[in-house]
Amino acid sequence: MTVPPSPDPACLVRPDCVHRDAYVSREVFELESRRFFGATWNFVAHESQLPQPGSYVTLDLAGRPLLVLREGDGRIGVFYNRCAHKGTKLYTDEAGHAGRVLRCPYHAWTYRLDGSPLGVPLRKDYDLQALSRCEAGQGLTRVGAVAEHRGFVFVRLDAQGIGFNDYFGEALQWIDNMVDRSPTGRLKVAGGIVRNVMRCNWKMYLENVNDTVHPVSTHESAGKSAKAQWEEGGTTATGAILPMAVEQLLPFASGYEFFDGMDAVVYPHGHSALGVSFSTHSNYAQPPGYEEALVAAHGEARTREILDRAPQNTVLYPSIAIKGAPLVMRVIRPLAADRTLVEAWSFHPEGAPDLLLERAVSYNRLVFSPMSILAHDDVHLFESVQQGLQSDGNPWVSMHRGFDPAELTSTTARRCKGTSELLMRNQFRAWRTFMITTEAA
Ligand code: FES
Ligand SMILES: [Fe+2]
Repeated sequence: MTVPPSPDPACLVRPDCVHRDAYVSREVFELESRRFFGATWNFVAHESQLPQPGSYVTLDLAGRPLLVLREGDGRIGVFYNRCAHKGTKLYTDEAGHAGRVLRCPYHAWTYRLDGSPLGVPLRKDYDLQALSRCEAGQGLTRVGAVAEHRGFVFVRLDAQGIGFNDYFGEALQWIDNMVDRSPTGRLKVAGGIVRNVMRCNWKMYLENVNDTVHPVSTHESAGKSAKAQWEEGGTTATGAILPMAVEQLLPFASGYEFFDGMDAVVYPHGHSALGVSFSTHSNYAQPPGYEEALVAAHGEARTREILDRAPQNTVLYPSIAIKGAPLVMRVIRPLAADRTLVEAWSFHPEGAPDLLLERAVSYNRLVFSPMSILAHDDVHLFESVQQGLQSDGNPWVSMHRGFDPAELTSTTARRCKGTSELLMRNQFRAWRTFMITTEAA
């Protein structure tokens, strides 16, 4: 039975543990949908999805339908996907092209590509002055704020709040690390998006992104079978080039020492980089000619920096988790207290060998697809935790590992061991902060 939530969400987060209502309570979910997701910056689209004026993508952000649109002047605008007449979603496809005007499928009201009203059928039957004075006459409503970094488009739904650069700060370098893997500095979304609805709270999924203690036990069978297959093939001779799938799966067979030593950094507002010393991606072979193309574009020093920094996961809280080296990204979308949509995206770096896209798609299929030999291990456990938290008795979820009281007053980037639960505590501290930001309510 769920305990009624505290009227003060601040009470749900302690320095080293979190109340189960943060995961299971429908009331808390409703509150965070408005308050937390209103105040924070969330990823909505990549510019390569919007090649020309009229191109659009749609999405649901914490219960709000959004329309991301390339406007007539080339800028990217983000509107609520709601007709000014009676509320119909203007577009329901995931992506498409609107043409030169936006047209509602219900009663054919039209809008310019900047969202302003253009026409209504039976115009003579309207008092046009009265219409222009009320909400219906204003056209589409823009979200509070839009910002773009290296082709990644984010929104803050609230009109007022923290600025984009203040919010992400140093964490933006991890978008740069992935984008600069293209010699031209441009990525393209490609290879399809793997979508998976998990029966768990979105915060549980984001915790798992930074959970390096679970692979040893949760993914034991996958790691072992990758190792066994490779060794049985008799191809362990020195210098042998690993097949792509083996290269991607073999590191999951590593022990606690490996994950401990990979180290991590947390940033203000819940962001993090796990695997700043090394990661399961560190030893990927590069396709012929790729490094040379990067050196020609970025110089030797920057190329080394780009390729040598291959974190396990970098989280731009709360909507995306990036893996720069395999060029993949997960997008996390809350649907309900116990439902989360997780999308696995792959990118092709412009000017780089096609093999990199193949590697990205392979990674998503092997590791994040629900039919892979890895993802179902996690999916089962997410559902299990969500159910286990319905228990009476202990209402607290432990996040004690690696706790240091000094972290409570830290306001800058902070380094820790790869297995520390600081990365999770850091997320929940940010969650608490934005849940109690009253102007965002
Ligand atoms: S609801 Fe869009 S035109 Fe009527
Ligand atoms: Fe996992």
